[in-house]
Amino acid sequence: MSTGSKWIGWRTSSVVEALASNSGNRLRLLGWVTTRASMGSVVFLRLRDGTAQIQLAVKQGIASPAALDAVKMATQESAIAVEGLLREDARAPGGKELSVTELTIVAGAEKWPITKSAIKSASFLYDLRHLSIRGRKASATMRVRSTLVNSTFEFFRKKDFWLISAPTLVQAAVEGGATLFSLDYFGKIAHLSQSAQFYEEAAIAALEKVFIFQPAFRAEKSKTPKHLTEFWMIEAEQAFATQEDNMTLQEDLVAYIAQQVAENRSADLLTLGRKYSPPETPFPRISYDEVIEMAESHKIGFEWGEDVPTEAERLVSLSFEKPFFITKYPLSARSFYHMAEDEDDTNRQVTLSADLIAPEGYGEIATGGQRIHDYDALRNRILKQNLDPESLKWYLDLRKYGMPPHSGFGIGLERTTRWICGLKHIRMTSLFPRTLTRIYP
Ligand code: 4AD
Ligand code: MG
Repeated sequence: MSTGSKWIGWRTSSVVEALASNSGNRLRLLGWVTTRASMGSVVFLRLRDGTAQIQLAVKQGIASPAALDAVKMATQESAIAVEGLLREDARAPGGKELSVTELTIVAGAEKWPITKSAIKSASFLYDLRHLSIRGRKASATMRVRSTLVNSTFEFFRKKDFWLISAPTLVQAAVEGGATLFSLDYFGKIAHLSQSAQFYEEAAIAALEKVFIFQPAFRAEKSKTPKHLTEFWMIEAEQAFATQEDNMTLQEDLVAYIAQQVAENRSADLLTLGRKYSPPETPFPRISYDEVIEMAESHKIGFEWGEDVPTEAERLVSLSFEKPFFITKYPLSARSFYHMAEDEDDTNRQVTLSADLIAPEGYGEIATGGQRIHDYDALRNRILKQNLDPESLKWYLDLRKYGMPPHSGFGIGLERTTRWICGLKHIRMTSLFPRTLTRIYP
């Protein structure tokens, strides 16, 4: 068996570069056969690499005898190497075709199991996810996701935020006990992290402005198009920052990354059939109380103090064309660390927090707020919510040593990708999604 070193440096361009180059150029490409069709004596292949797809024509009289022989073995998903002349062809996708002179099979493929007649359900495709990710839409989605991550890093670098990391094996419940995954940690109970927020809060006293990008875990019992049990979260935290600063940061981030996708991934958005114009700041803000009224007009009622029901959030978001904030959430719908607008108003305690909601029915993509920075206030809150201050000892301790007002947020990568790509289900945004019913492959 060859070690494959023959192909190092052999290719002259990627497919996307080939599509942009001049006809008449002699090119060498590497990739996989995605479709094949014969028309008379010509074999048409569609070649895919990590960037795009291009049509190949293998014709008698032009292709070498070895290439004509090899193309017989070029089954769907075989990895091949081709050399040929680029020519204009209005009928070919991308307007270009490679007229092949040489073709070699690098690694052959058995009969591809994903055929139209075999696809009976979504779960068939997800059982074969290790193969079905090669589809055009899946690849386009992953490239958009990658661009979202890269541009997030760019955004925070430009704003002088430090990238940190934090443990994912933890003891504290940041977002309540109901969705914790627990495991045995040498005789103690540990959990998979729901959010890195508490570690960020510790880090801001050293670095002032931090962000983090890592997996978060939620034992979500809900089977919805927006819940995963493992997802990636981008979180940011700033010292000396109010909730107002925090919302500005979120809208600047979302506007920036959406713009980067529009500029750099237009071909992928086209593949996904997604038409969208990147939102401009500022984003609209509506209060929780207004949401109650809007939900009522959709015949969904809920009590003041409850979390906004998913269906109400979806219906309200249908009337927006760009992301918007829902502000002034009641304390009863929030975690213990949230700062209240007025700590003494025990009647209707409203938090300095907001959810960022994607339009068109996609729903919540981020949650953020200002944290209680005063030691006594936080301790009282912990006690009031019947939590154990001992289990939050180090988090409380931070408040003893110069903790200024601070705020931060977490934005879900998969939910954001789902909205930007216009996808039905969040699992489409993950290479290997983890849901209530899926941990394979
Ligand atoms: O709203 P959440 O629970 O907020 C927090 O975890 C805060 N501690 C973040 C912070 O302030 N640093 O989660 C934040 C975001 C959600 O808005 C959503 O986008 C995503 O994380 N998210 C999920 N994504 C997919 N599946 C799930 N089960 C998710 N749960 C939350
Ligand atoms: Mg939330």
